Amino acid sequence: MSTTLPVTTPRSDDATRAAASVDRSIRLITAGATRGETCTPDLAKGPWEFDRGPAGYGPGSSMGDVIPTGSPRQGALPEEYRRASDAELDERIRAAKATLGDRVVVLGHFYQRDEVVQHADFTGDSFQLANAAKTRPDAEAIVFCGVHFMAETADMLSRPDQAVILPNLAAGCSMADMADTSSVEECWEQLEEVYGDLTATDADGRVPVIPVTYMNSSAALKGFVGRNGGIVCTSSNATTVLEWAFERGQRVLFFPDQHLGRNTAKAMGVPLEAMPMWNPRKPLGGSTTAELEDARVILWHGFCSVHKRFTVDQIERARADHPGVQVIVHPECPMPVVDAADASGSTDFIVKAIQAAPAGSTFAIGTEINLVQRLAAEHPEHEIFCLDPVVCPCSTMYRIHPGYLAWVLEELVAGRVVNRIEVAEDVAEPARVALERMLAAKPPASVPVPAGSTIAAAGDAAAAAADVAASAVGA
Ligand code: 13P
Ligand code: SF4
Repeated sequence: MSTTLPVTTPRSDDATRAAASVDRSIRLITAGATRGETCTPDLAKGPWEFDRGPAGYGPGSSMGDVIPTGSPRQGALPEEYRRASDAELDERIRAAKATLGDRVVVLGHFYQRDEVVQHADFTGDSFQLANAAKTRPDAEAIVFCGVHFMAETADMLSRPDQAVILPNLAAGCSMADMADTSSVEECWEQLEEVYGDLTATDADGRVPVIPVTYMNSSAALKGFVGRNGGIVCTSSNATTVLEWAFERGQRVLFFPDQHLGRNTAKAMGVPLEAMPMWNPRKPLGGSTTAELEDARVILWHGFCSVHKRFTVDQIERARADHPGVQVIVHPECPMPVVDAADASGSTDFIVKAIQAAPAGSTFAIGTEINLVQRLAAEHPEHEIFCLDPVVCPCSTMYRIHPGYLAWVLEELVAGRVVNRIEVAEDVAEPARVALERMLAAKPPASVPVPAGSTIAAAGDAAAAAADVAASAVGA
């Protein structure tokens, strides 16, 4: 039977948490207790209602995307966790963490529900969290509240005896799923037919094409890239990584996110005509041989359904309604949206821009609603709102509910490891090569920080974020 979760009254000392809670907003909207709109009333149900249903990403921004067969499925969550109130789950998570002590570290991605983030020992973006895992080598278990590719990366970067746990196995990433290994290998073979030997170098020592994968991809694809002279990038170092690739290759095959690839290469001066799209369902990806020969960046036909929701219309409305507003969007947004914004950058960039801004700034943000609503609650000195007025979280990030977190932690207390994510060593080894190339191309801009503290301003991302903040006051 389908149930809508009750809205519980937050603790009186927790007004900030209540304001940050997207769960609470959704429940109030679906109960008709407040104005607003969600993309589906199913968001008010427990994620376990979708674990055993027809395979899908669940309610939220990816619900229209096609989930590949063979994607991990989550078994039934024991009833006691499905029935427990928010307050009971909160207590049980705290108690289990206290019992486990240093034996466990809980990581929470910026896009997680606030009810989960409040239990995280570290919050951050996908790369910061993978590094955060390394700062606790004595922890037997790393509970990764994020999505599947992030848990895989943490597993590859942590000690072999540490268990990385994903509380809900259905928390994949629809964008990462848009590039599978066999389609990319097929593409690589077709590129070999066009360019000839892919290991042969020209007079400048460059091979015909370098594969670059976004962090949001399976470990298997990171391994493919590692084996074929390529590299991983994140949204905070994509420019540096493309520079690295152009030094070594005449062109780049970029997957899975066409938007990050296009936005980054365009900002580096690559003309749009030199960026054909590769549609894996079409011969030669849908391009001609001549177009592929002239290409500088071949863009895989992938996208993020969260960031696809942002539009230029929303930006125009924000500017009309809020004169002086600073619009910052994630580079997974379509190019016209990035072009119309004041700045674009990774989740970490957005967080730092807001932290560095003078009080009284107004920001319209184009990224996942859980992060935006939390930033708005934590920064009452600013006005911060999401560009998209419809509350529509990332479907897969939202599959992690405190019920699953309580379950995996209490299983650990009982001496059982459930939902372990383990990357086979023959995949992990070349994938680590690709990750290490990224680290060598440029060290990470930020260090992981304990949840609730201010992220240290370091590196390019922080400097650029400070520039955005300064421009908010015309500095
Ligand atoms: P970050 O690398 O900034 O954490 O982003 C991950 C993601 O999924 C963005 O949509
Ligand atoms: Fe994947 Fe988009 Fe969700 Fe990020 S926000 S995890 S890219 S679906």
